[in-house]
Amino acid sequence: MYQTKIKLCLDMKNYVLKHWIRGVEIVKLWAGRFKEESSTLFDEFNESISFDKKLYKEDIRGSIAHCKMLNKINILTDKESEKIQNCLKKIESLIEEGKLEFSIENEDIHMNIESLLIDEIGELGKKLHSGRSRNDQIAIDLRMFLLEKTNLIMDCILSLLNILLNISEKNKKIILPGYTHLQKAQPIRLSFYFMAYFQMLRRDYERFEDSLKRTNSMVLGSGALSGVPYKLDREFLRDELNFLYISENALDSVSDRDFIIEFQSNSSILMMHLSRLSEEMILWATSEFNFIEISDKHTTGSSIMPQKKNPDVFELIRGKTGRVYGNLISILTVMKGLPLAYNKDMQEDKESLFDSVVTVERSLKILSEMMPEIKFNSQRMSNSLKSGFLNATDMADYLVSKGMEFRNAHKLVGELVSYSLDNNKSLEELELNELKAFSKLFDDEIYNRLSFENSIESKISFGSSSIENVEKSFLSAKKFFLDKRK
Ligand code: ARG
Repeated sequence: MYQTKIKLCLDMKNYVLKHWIRGVEIVKLWAGRFKEESSTLFDEFNESISFDKKLYKEDIRGSIAHCKMLNKINILTDKESEKIQNCLKKIESLIEEGKLEFSIENEDIHMNIESLLIDEIGELGKKLHSGRSRNDQIAIDLRMFLLEKTNLIMDCILSLLNILLNISEKNKKIILPGYTHLQKAQPIRLSFYFMAYFQMLRRDYERFEDSLKRTNSMVLGSGALSGVPYKLDREFLRDELNFLYISENALDSVSDRDFIIEFQSNSSILMMHLSRLSEEMILWATSEFNFIEISDKHTTGSSIMPQKKNPDVFELIRGKTGRVYGNLISILTVMKGLPLAYNKDMQEDKESLFDSVVTVERSLKILSEMMPEIKFNSQRMSNSLKSGFLNATDMADYLVSKGMEFRNAHKLVGELVSYSLDNNKSLEELELNELKAFSKLFDDEIYNRLSFENSIESKISFGSSSIENVEKSFLSAKKFFLDKRK
């Protein structure tokens, strides 16, 4: 097949890029046993270079390490190894400068780089693939890529955690209704509320952190599936590529994509948390709730309704969560029926992975920018405590403290709620004689117990919404940061 071909001329002092417009045949690196050329439709269908070109850095890093190792075990001479490494580095800079075009005839990033190398240094370039297969090559590239991206996402989570802690510390005093079934339940502190999200994201951080130890396995040297007949120095490769462990079974090494599934799963759980936060911010920004105002910088107007201020970012995070779930389901489904070892189906692991990486990173970053700018309407939150009988449980607990059985107290306060509804009053607005008509156990002290501040402060169990416990959670959060940042 005759195609446009780009040839690198790597005169190391003064390299130029020459284009052979027509007439240079691209011979597939695996073409030996084929008599016919592949069809164009096939090449277009089969290729992955359009997306795995993203992995060029990892691929070149892996190749350089492999080359050094081949030199160490005397398959390449010092000179040969140096020449290959220099050429690979030049290819890397040319890719970075956007001066190289890849070809779909060379299918993927591995064969594109290898054929550029061969174009440039000839027969010597053909030695690089000794003791290596694209199956272990892609597996190591993906692991290197994901180690870096997981660390990046962990940093983004840390920033957002820090912001949640700041918001909590700044708004320690604000009280608002807590909900169950989206019905007013009990009063809580705004700081307590945000520290709940802190806990969720902290778990997310730890999940990503934990997954690193499984991703951190050096799989190069596994060959196509059963190892290689060379005495490869895999310890050297591990050290060179900065991995912690060396994989123990070649068959598993080339067919394992658990580390991608874990990443997608961790991302899905994280996005679920961000989506729940988003959903609440959307609700809180409605005129019905009016608990918050999102900054102009992060909202949109309507093209028809002049009054509108829409919480698009939160909606998009909620929407993109579905997309990340889709990516998880996609890789799980790709892998579920695959016999060992490598199958081409696995090429489908990449686009969804790249998509999740970008989606998660951008979602975390925009939230970190937006959240500090949100204004909390504490007056509105406090007014909203007045309806909904948020202190009904406190009244029941008061009766329990006076000796009544909890179930009886629950029933009696239920009747009082019904009475108050009929009389259009809140519990704290009932006169003592009205209360006494229901139980002799009531005295003046009850009004103290019904205040929302006291309701919260009465929650003395560890992990509760009282100021003392919220302060404890701040301390624990700071300890977490100290541990993670050192
Ligand atoms: N482009 C391939 C992928 O992403 C690389 C591995 C190809 N291996 C093979 N035996 N065809 O999965």
